[in-house]
Amino acid sequence: MVDRHDARSWDSFLPVSYKWLESLKVTGVEQWPAGSFVALPCQYDNGIKLDQLDIEQAMAAVIGDKAKKAGWKGKGPLMLEVQDSQLVLLPISSLKVEGLRRAREAGLDLAKFTKDLNIGSLVFASHKELPTTAVLEGYLIGLYEAGLFKGKADEGVLPETVALHGHADSTGLKEIVSFARATMFTRMLQDAPANWLTPVKWGQIATDYFGKKNVECKVLSKKDLIEENMGSFLSVAQGSPIEPRLISIKIKGRSGKKKVALVGKGLTFDAGGISLKPSAGMGEMKYDMSGGAAVMGAAHYLADQQPDHDVHCVIGAVENMPSGTATRPGDIVQARNGKTIEVLNTDAEGRLVLADLLSYVSDESPDFIVDLATLTGAVLHGLGHAGAAVMGGDENAVKTILNIGQEVGEPLWQLPLWPELEKEVKSDVADLKNIAKPAVLAGTIMGGMFLKEFVKEGIPWVHMDIAGTGWSCQATGYPKTNGSAFGVRSIVQLCSEKSL
Ligand code: BES
Ligand code: ZN
Ligand code: ZN
Repeated sequence: MVDRHDARSWDSFLPVSYKWLESLKVTGVEQWPAGSFVALPCQYDNGIKLDQLDIEQAMAAVIGDKAKKAGWKGKGPLMLEVQDSQLVLLPISSLKVEGLRRAREAGLDLAKFTKDLNIGSLVFASHKELPTTAVLEGYLIGLYEAGLFKGKADEGVLPETVALHGHADSTGLKEIVSFARATMFTRMLQDAPANWLTPVKWGQIATDYFGKKNVECKVLSKKDLIEENMGSFLSVAQGSPIEPRLISIKIKGRSGKKKVALVGKGLTFDAGGISLKPSAGMGEMKYDMSGGAAVMGAAHYLADQQPDHDVHCVIGAVENMPSGTATRPGDIVQARNGKTIEVLNTDAEGRLVLADLLSYVSDESPDFIVDLATLTGAVLHGLGHAGAAVMGGDENAVKTILNIGQEVGEPLWQLPLWPELEKEVKSDVADLKNIAKPAVLAGTIMGGMFLKEFVKEGIPWVHMDIAGTGWSCQATGYPKTNGSAFGVRSIVQLCSEKSL
């Protein structure tokens, strides 16, 4: 097969801004340098509110006057020329969500607005309530361009320098730049089509990228998975001529007293297998690797910004295709932990992959396991696109993740794993079945109930269902189209969490 995409190295598909960020040094400044382009986040509530901004009164009066003359109603950014500077008023969302997320949203808006503007020095004005660092973060994240696979990708223009007003030094700024790069890496993987990002290619990308970092990266082939007795994972790969890969990245922590395992569902394409999905919208199933992409994005960040704890990242990269060799509904497969599974629906494949990965990471007895997966369409019925579902066997573990979500501005909502439902994943002919009978409903919870069977007793574990937020995410502070990199924030934070 001749694929012209393959003539290019994988990293040439990363956005130009990803490379630009590598050498970007954001600084703190006391004053806006003359001739700057200044971003001013401000509220509009029946009139412009400038009192939260750290600017002189005379300047505020001029801005207020000009904005009024321009008929500005806070519906989008407004550019004004004041003295020798270009100012951009960035309306802050009036939604009742955390300031952190509204600040990031303003930054995302700025990136869109300035995409084609030639900016020399960009300065973020400080705001009394909203963290300027979060506006910066939203801006840098927003510099990602979709359309990287166009024959000629559109490239915006990037500023020469970026500074924060009122931020005395550069504390925390390099972490923000590093985080933005990690989200770009994540989103490129997400947006990539399944004929490019195959499981095999993903393994090569991992070896190539992480091989140059001070981490241990291992890619297991089909043969290795057979040796590991991963019959459940392998059953998903069976319909495709492309081999599966298990990608494992180990990062040493600063203290190394605790171990965290991050597990990601990496279905580079989910056609449903023999339980074929309907054709409408099937193309979106290239995003069924969003959990795996988030885990790899977290590894990208942690390889540069060392976490406190040791981290084991594991991704199950595979595609679920129908064919004469594919798993049939009714087949019984054996997972790595010895449990047998009756596969009643080949489209409930994510849990089959995660089953073996959870057993694999359990072997090293980590202090915490979190898995991320676009596991169920049902989570969309429960929570829509504005937040992800979390569930787990251990109440404290779930609380830890919920608190982290709160702290980092990642909207998460708990669903229960009711003990009454345990029997619904038991099969008459095997130990387990991969779907419950239709009357049970509670699709997202049943996904969690199934996974719980593969986590070694006593290890705190949380499952995050990101099917509603992995792409086309509607949460404030996240990119709204294409891949969102949802989840990266919480798992990165978990790797330095004090309370483990
Ligand atoms: N990848 C899908 C879940 C999904 C659906 C994610 C829509 C995002 C949007 C998953 O593998 C799947 O097909 N799940 C089935 C499970 C069912 C057969 C129990 C589902 O949700 O329909
Ligand atoms: Zn599926
Ligand atoms: Zn799937």
